[in-house]
Amino acid sequence: MTDPVRLAAVLDAPADWTQESGSGYVLHREPQADIRLAFAESVARGLEDHPRTLSCTYLYDEEGSRIFEAITRQPEYYQTRTEDAILEAAASQLRLQAGNTTVVELGSGSSSKTRNILDAWCRRGPTRYVPIDVSGAALDAACRDLTGRFPTLTVEALATTYERGIPLAARMSPLLLIFLGSTIGNFTHGELDAFLDLLAGHLRPEDRLLIGIDLIKSTARLESAYNDAAGWSERFTLNLFARMNRELDTHIPLDAIEHVAYFNEALARIEIYARFRREVDIEIPLLGRGFRMAPGEMVLTEISRKFEVDDFAAHLNRFGFSLEEAWSDAENLFSVLLFRRRRENPYADNRRRSRIRALQRMRSETLDILAPVAGAVNQDRPALHEALISRLWDLAAHESHWLMSLRAPQVDRSGLNEASPPPTLDEVLLHIAAVRRQLLRDMAAPGNLATPPAAPGVPRPYNPRREALLHETLLEDIQELGDHDYEPVHEGAPPARPDQISTGEMLLIPDGPFRMGQPAEHDAEENEQPQHEARVPSFMLDAAPVTNREYLSFMEDGGYENPEFWNDDGWRFRCSQGLAAPAGWVQDSGVWTIRHLSTSSTLDPFRPVCLVSWFEAEAFARWCGKRLPGEAEWEKAATWDPVRRLASPYPWGSLPPQADLANLDHDLWEPMPVGSYPQGRSFYGCHQMLGDVWEWTAGTYQPYPRHGSTPFGGDSNSVWGDHLRVLRGGSWATSAPAITCHTRRAALPSARNLFAGFRCARNL
Ligand code: AVI
Repeated sequence: MTDPVRLAAVLDAPADWTQESGSGYVLHREPQADIRLAFAESVARGLEDHPRTLSCTYLYDEEGSRIFEAITRQPEYYQTRTEDAILEAAASQLRLQAGNTTVVELGSGSSSKTRNILDAWCRRGPTRYVPIDVSGAALDAACRDLTGRFPTLTVEALATTYERGIPLAARMSPLLLIFLGSTIGNFTHGELDAFLDLLAGHLRPEDRLLIGIDLIKSTARLESAYNDAAGWSERFTLNLFARMNRELDTHIPLDAIEHVAYFNEALARIEIYARFRREVDIEIPLLGRGFRMAPGEMVLTEISRKFEVDDFAAHLNRFGFSLEEAWSDAENLFSVLLFRRRRENPYADNRRRSRIRALQRMRSETLDILAPVAGAVNQDRPALHEALISRLWDLAAHESHWLMSLRAPQVDRSGLNEASPPPTLDEVLLHIAAVRRQLLRDMAAPGNLATPPAAPGVPRPYNPRREALLHETLLEDIQELGDHDYEPVHEGAPPARPDQISTGEMLLIPDGPFRMGQPAEHDAEENEQPQHEARVPSFMLDAAPVTNREYLSFMEDGGYENPEFWNDDGWRFRCSQGLAAPAGWVQDSGVWTIRHLSTSSTLDPFRPVCLVSWFEAEAFARWCGKRLPGEAEWEKAATWDPVRRLASPYPWGSLPPQADLANLDHDLWEPMPVGSYPQGRSFYGCHQMLGDVWEWTAGTYQPYPRHGSTPFGGDSNSVWGDHLRVLRGGSWATSAPAITCHTRRAALPSARNLFAGFRCARNL
């Protein structure tokens, strides 16, 4: 007898993942973080929320998964068996429609939902199946079971989250990506859109998507499915608290909790709560935190959204997925929907349009920044004039270069070569406008800005970040070389002054791995790559940047006079420059004023100190028995959400910066008092990590481990060096598109012309 034909395993997981293989399968496992700590932090964060919530992902430990299996067999819980019956009847037609695609499944668990599909695929030839699930144990069992059952099946399992699994699996296109069991109903609106965004960004035209959704029906029918007579639903909810007792030592009396599940018609979702029958104190010893639950208080443990087929299809349509087929049962309880990823993709088109708009916005901001100096700069301030025109020249050269990399050069280069006599600012502005017109013409043609890039080597979309970066350097030049009569074109309204300003508070950032750097995607800067796992021991970090008042104490305590606080280079620098205060500080009759572009104002004790060098920051830290944070420490405190095990680009998450979250975009023209942006805090509670002032970090400017191993390089062509230090987080002068918490800016430790301050760290 000849061996059955199987496809070769081809999936390329990241180098730090482990691989186990058996006959017909490979299981790729992402390295595991400390689940107990992540669970504890998730619980603490959820119990702090209003209303209190607990993440439904923690419902599925071994015991929870066993209880859920029991729920699926209850007479009231129609979903699982209805979906099975639909798939059994539809599988052959589905195979004909989808063709010989790789089958990728999200949240595959035991893969029992997929049997009918795999059966239909394997009947027609060798088949590749990529199950993705966070539970390695469930995948391991499924791999063995399936390859025994289907001799022509090759399984390449990914033990990871959707966020990391989907980009890997998408390389196996053409594919059918399946997401069954109405699990999509457990997503909130925001989570659903983020998920669809992820799919739209990675699936290729003609790839298929198969989704099981639970339909809106009578309240009685829905509510009985989540309140089964045998009590499994109740056990499922209680198990979350039992799990807290088992893993977190919380000692919660389970008899004090009851399961409550009802249909919220307005939001078309089942809501499941744990209601406390009496007062209960929940202590989490691992974190040293406690929460008091009042009698009658409800904690939301899960939502389960219900849909109409038409609405659901219309929503997916916006992300470039067209409904091809809808299968439902005779009673219209449940639907399985097949979507096709269209060639044209509104999501990508929108991105292209918004990129063009962003470029135009960036240019108008450049002109606004230059307007107050444009008239006088040519003759009156030659140093400033020279600095500004050379920066603008560089920008035009960069844009020309991008155009040339895309196609034959058509850029008008007249005037680019002769720099003598120097052109006026107006002449340079005309030149950069001409280059920009060509760039915009090119960008408007569809196809040039496929996003994300289809493959390494395909030109990257032109990134408006370049001009956004320019804004801050122009302002630094004006601050340093102008004579401080700068009148800004726009001024924003400052946030309300915080009532309680707690300076000097430090926060615990617990030990545990996190993901540092930017994923290798279209806009990632080269010096932020590759994204990699980093680990720093537990440490304390200032909740806010160091303020003028704190800095003044250092000065008044002889900070600038005592060499003990300074390193050798720093002390030499301090002496050679005769430093006695940050740049722009002037003392008159005992009163300190700060000169900032156009303004000269009395020192505000609660604003972050600004215009200090790394040497001064380091001396301050030593004076108060602390140190500067390392880059990894800073980035973890700013980006990491240990609950979702995701790093976000901004301290508050992935929402782009806005005026109530951070002081960016040269709207306010100076740093704001600490505590002014409570909504913009990071997961760990740190204030103002983005905007206000750049923050100096310890250590020198070095590439990340395995730098250069990712396919998509960036624009920055970094020059690494032991002589450079790294700043993080941007300042009030940074344009929002230029900054995320992954951004690394290198500068000499002596630089005092940057809008830079710092916060301190200390070991535990
Ligand atoms: C997994 N998920 C689709 C189930 C549901 O119906 O939302 C989870 C569940 N929770 C309680 N019963 C079932």
